[in-house]
Amino acid sequence: MSNRTFTMIKPDAMRNGHAGAIIDRFIKEGFRIVALKQTKLSVEKAGEFYAVHKERPFYGELVDFMSSGVIITAILEKENAVAAFRELIGATNPAQAAEGTIRKLYATSVGENAVHGSDSDENAKIEGAFFFSGLEQF
Ligand code: CMP
Repeated sequence: MSNRTFTMIKPDAMRNGHAGAIIDRFIKEGFRIVALKQTKLSVEKAGEFYAVHKERPFYGELVDFMSSGVIITAILEKENAVAAFRELIGATNPAQAAEGTIRKLYATSVGENAVHGSDSDENAKIEGAFFFSGLEQF
């Protein structure tokens, strides 16, 4: 069990003006912000980040969407962070997300689902390192 996870606020939530409310929710739920930045993925970088989904039918759509606008990326810290954060964001498909979860509140579809959350400690490290480096001092 690790205390850190990685998240992205996706282009749909950014465009729809939900970034502030979503970050506020992270903090209110007890996540400490270890690192945070606004950035934009190129098609190439989005493809690299989601390379694990390369064979999926939605890969092209996912890469196009994730490179379609600015995003906010962050590393968050809390006890049992990966599982606690996945509970907070809810199911990948907002139609199946529990009431009060971030995706239930802000996502529009399975593809445009407002936020990303790492699915394991190992991926949290890999994904965090994709955007941030030299965080040991925190
Ligand atoms: P995320 O948790 O960021 O990681 C993989 C993403 O693929 C996922 O969120 C969804 O946004 C996206 N995804 C999963 N299933 C589908 C699907 N059936 N159609 C489009 N996008 C999908």
